[in-house]
Parts: sequence; structure tokens; C-alpha cells
Amino acid sequence: MTSHPTRALVTGGAGLIGSHVADLLQREGWIVRVLDNLEPQTHRRGKPAWIAKDVEFIQGDVRDRQTMTSALQGIDVVFHQAAYGGYMPEIAKYVHVNSFGTAQMLEVIRERRLSIQKIVVASSQAVYSEGAATCPEHGLVFPEVRPVEQLQAGDWSVHCPICQAVTKSAPTPERAPVGGETVYGLTKVDQEKLTLLWGKQIGIPTVALRYSCTYGPRQSIFNPYTGVIAIFCTRLLNNLPPVLYEDGEQTRDFSFVEDIARANLLAAETDQLDGLPVNVGSGRGVSIRDVAEHISEALGIHIAPEVKGEFRPGEMRHLTSGTDRIRAAGYKPQVELEAGIGRYLDWIRQQSDIRDYFSEAANVLRSKGIVHRVKVADE
Ligand SMILES: NC(=O)c1ccc[n+]([C@@H]2O[C@H](COP(=O)([O-])OP(=O)(O)OC[C@H]3O[C@@H](n4cnc5c(N)ncnc54)[C@H](O)[C@@H]3O)[C@@H](O)[C@H]2O)c1
Ligand SMILES: [Zn+2]
Repeated sequence: MTSHPTRALVTGGAGLIGSHVADLLQREGWIVRVLDNLEPQTHRRGKPAWIAKDVEFIQGDVRDRQTMTSALQGIDVVFHQAAYGGYMPEIAKYVHVNSFGTAQMLEVIRERRLSIQKIVVASSQAVYSEGAATCPEHGLVFPEVRPVEQLQAGDWSVHCPICQAVTKSAPTPERAPVGGETVYGLTKVDQEKLTLLWGKQIGIPTVALRYSCTYGPRQSIFNPYTGVIAIFCTRLLNNLPPVLYEDGEQTRDFSFVEDIARANLLAAETDQLDGLPVNVGSGRGVSIRDVAEHISEALGIHIAPEVKGEFRPGEMRHLTSGTDRIRAAGYKPQVELEAGIGRYLDWIRQQSDIRDYFSEAANVLRSKGIVHRVKVADE
């Protein structure tokens, strides 16, 4: 690419994924600048110690045009990780940080004719409405989000959009319809579409990585809205039961954060993924109940999960990433869920004052209508 070492801007580089991307790039000989506002929800104790000394750290907001402009100076590759995330009651803030922040970044790059060679944007599996499924009659189908009335009646299953039969979960390929059934999901759709579309118009290669549920050391132990593994760990360490929504049999695909960092490096270095949305996941679906049980086992804290028939409208039932596209480009996840949870627990044990922020947050979500409960509980 260039004769000098490649210079990266990692927005959100103090966070879970961004900080691991920054570390990996540095090990690879890149020069790294981080732009992060240290969002208080995520960083209750200020600037985390894990930000490497030789990283150029800019504390600032992606929404601030001036800050973004100077952060982009002299950069070759942007890893745009900064985002507001979780099941938060705020609507405007998601749109402002995620959608507007991304749009403004792109505008600055074009206006200043910056010689950016690639932009890798953090998208999410949350762009899908519901995971792909197979119907006994119709084969692979792409169901829509389950209607609230169905969930209120305690029917958690995913029905075939053609014949209404109960379906089985299948890996979701990138060609599945993109929806955005939560405000967060909607802004992730914005971020990836803005970036991919703009990149094609302007001639800058871009890649949108649709991460699966990502976990690992440095995942905020303060944010009660994101990261089911972090939330279950902090609940159990406070001798409280993990709370399972629906019946706990919903499944997710989990990625260890270092694998996600490797996917970012790959997306920057190969041109095979340019212009595309790309799933990054393990390709394995695990039920939330199994995750809770595994953590409980690993911690040696045996408290049965709480299942009260609560659900979050807009949430998908099953999502396993179809990973053919990224695997064809050479990606192979290296850390299995069990080993990765072990690594996370080693880290969390070294953290002091692990408080439960979830109980209070759950009450807020209930009162704001983000968490619902079945109308007639069927025991
Ligand atoms: N963790 C997951 O499971 C997951 C899954 C899919 C997609 N993603 C996406 O990956 C990216 C990184 O997520 P993460 O898990 O590392 O979250 P994180 O909260 O650990 O990191 C996000 C970082 O962005 C910073 N940030 C937030 N708002 C900002 C703003 N206005 N200006 C500057 N910095 C700001 C935060 O301070 C934080 O350090 C996000 O775009 C997220 O939507 C994460
Ligand atoms: Zn069918």
C-alpha cells in the first residue's frame, strides 16, 4: 500500500472491540490513533488502563465535526467501531451517534479529499429481522420479526412466512433481508448502508462487518444493557440469578473479541470483501440458557436462572451467522465459546467492585415498555 507503516484511526478504540483491534494492529506494526469519548455508561471509571501507551489517544466525540476532522488527518485506514449500543430507552442518541456520526465522518473525508484507502465499519447481526430458518415444506425461508401479539400469547417459535409451520433455525447468509427491528438495529443498517453506498460513489473501498454477539476481556461490567455474557457473570458474582427472556431457548452466535479483531485486520488487508456486508461469527448457535448454565458451572456459583416470560419486542429468536463469505476470504475463528468464557472469567475476577447494574436497568426497561411480559403466563 504505502511505504510508511500503515496509519489507522480506530473510533471507539477504548471499548471492547476497538481496543483489541488497536492492540492487534500495533502488533502488526501499524501506527494507531484512537478516537473515543469514554462514554460514561461503558467507562464508569474513566480512561481504561488497557489503552496502550504508544497509541495516540484523542478523547472526543464522533459527533463533533472539528474533532473528527483532526482525528482523520494523515490516516490510511479507518476502523469505525464507535457506537451507542444496547436496549436503551434513548432513541435520538442512537441516531445521533451512530447514523449522524457516520454520515458526518464520510462527509469530512470527501470534503477534505483525505487519502483514506479503506473504511471498515462495525455493523451487526442486529440488521437482520429474524434469523434464517428452514420450513419442512418450503426449505430455506427468511421469516419476519415475530408479531408482538404472538409473543404476548407466549408463543416464542418462528413460523414459516409462507405456510406458518414452525421452522428450525438455519445459518443466516448476507443476502437475507435487512430490516432493523430495534432502534439500535436501524442505526446499524444506516451505518453500513451509508458507508458501503458512499464508498462506491467516491471510489474508496469499504467493508461492513456484521459481528455476531461479541464477548471477552474488557467488555464493560458497568453497562447493564449490552453483552449477555458480561451481564450473567456480574449477576452470578452478586449471587443473583441470571434473567432469561422468553424461555431461554433462543439461540445466538458468539464471537470471542480477538477473533473479531482478526476479522477487522483481514477486511483491511484483502480486497475480496470490498464493497460488501460480511457476517463475522462462529457459525454455531448456542441457547441463552446453555450460556447461563456454562457460566454458572465455570464460576461454581449455582443459582437457577429466572424465567418469568418476559420478552423484548423486536428481538429475534435465533441467529446463527452464515460465514461462507468471510471464510472464503481466509477467516477462521480460533477461540471456542467454552475457552473464551474461561478467558473472560479470568479477567473479570481481577476486576474490583463488580456490582449488579442490571436490576435497576430492568425496571427502567419495563417502565419504558422495552421489556414486556406474557399476558397469560402458561406454566
Ligand atoms: N459487542 C457486540 O456484541 C457487538 C455486536 C455487533 C456489533 N457491535 C458493534 O461493534 C462496535 C464496538 O462495540 P463494542 O462491543 O466494542 O462496544 P463498547 O461499548 O465496548 O465500545 C464502543 C466504544 O465507543 C465509544 N463511543 C461511544 N459513543 C461514542 C461517541 N459519541 N464518540 C466517540 N466514541 C464513542 C465508547 O466510549 C466505547 O469505548 C459498535 O459499533 C457496536 O455496535 C458490537
Ligand atoms: Zn412453509
